[in-house]
Amino acid sequence: MTKEVFKEPAIKVIAMPADANADGDMFGGWILSMMDLAGAVPARKRARRRIVTVAVENIVFHKPVFIGDCLECYAMIEKTGRSSMTVLVETFVERREKEEKEKITEGRFVYVAIGPDRKSMPLD
Ligand SMILES: CC(C)(COP(=O)(O)OP(=O)(O)OC[C@H]1O[C@@H](n2cnc3c(N)ncnc32)[C@H](O)[C@@H]1OP(=O)(O)O)[C@@H](O)C(=O)NCCC(=O)NCCS
Repeated sequence: MTKEVFKEPAIKVIAMPADANADGDMFGGWILSMMDLAGAVPARKRARRRIVTVAVENIVFHKPVFIGDCLECYAMIEKTGRSSMTVLVETFVERREKEEKEKITEGRFVYVAIGPDRKSMPLD
């Protein structure tokens, strides 16, 4: 799966110092939270109701993200079940000094549509 199949990034954000370690590398947890938000964009649109993240597949960070990089997360629903949606999220960075985007990581996030009782609810 390549970036070209995604229409546009679900999230585009500049990496800021508050989310970095003392050496200027962005925390993996911050990148994961951006990916979780990005994956939720198509999932909530599909579910049209409250959703929660139930699982995240193994994620490997191939390259670092630095303060000032522009992070882009592309998200696409790959599979739906009764109440669940598996979303592929691919993450790239545009560094300040380079035009070319670099792929940082990718992963699958599983969201579940829930009702007011917080129990899983079938998708329409
Ligand atoms: C999500 C939640 C409602 C599911 O509860 P549950 O009792 O497992 O519900 P169900 O058994 O009906 O499963 C719901 C769906 O989740 C899927 N699911 C459950 N655990 C899963 C896992 N570890 N990996 C992938 N899918 C999973 C099931 O396969 C099912 O999919 P389907 O309806 O498409 O067949 C419950 O686990 C929960 O509230 N978790 C906390 C969510 C949360 O707080 N997330 C962090 C903040 S958003």
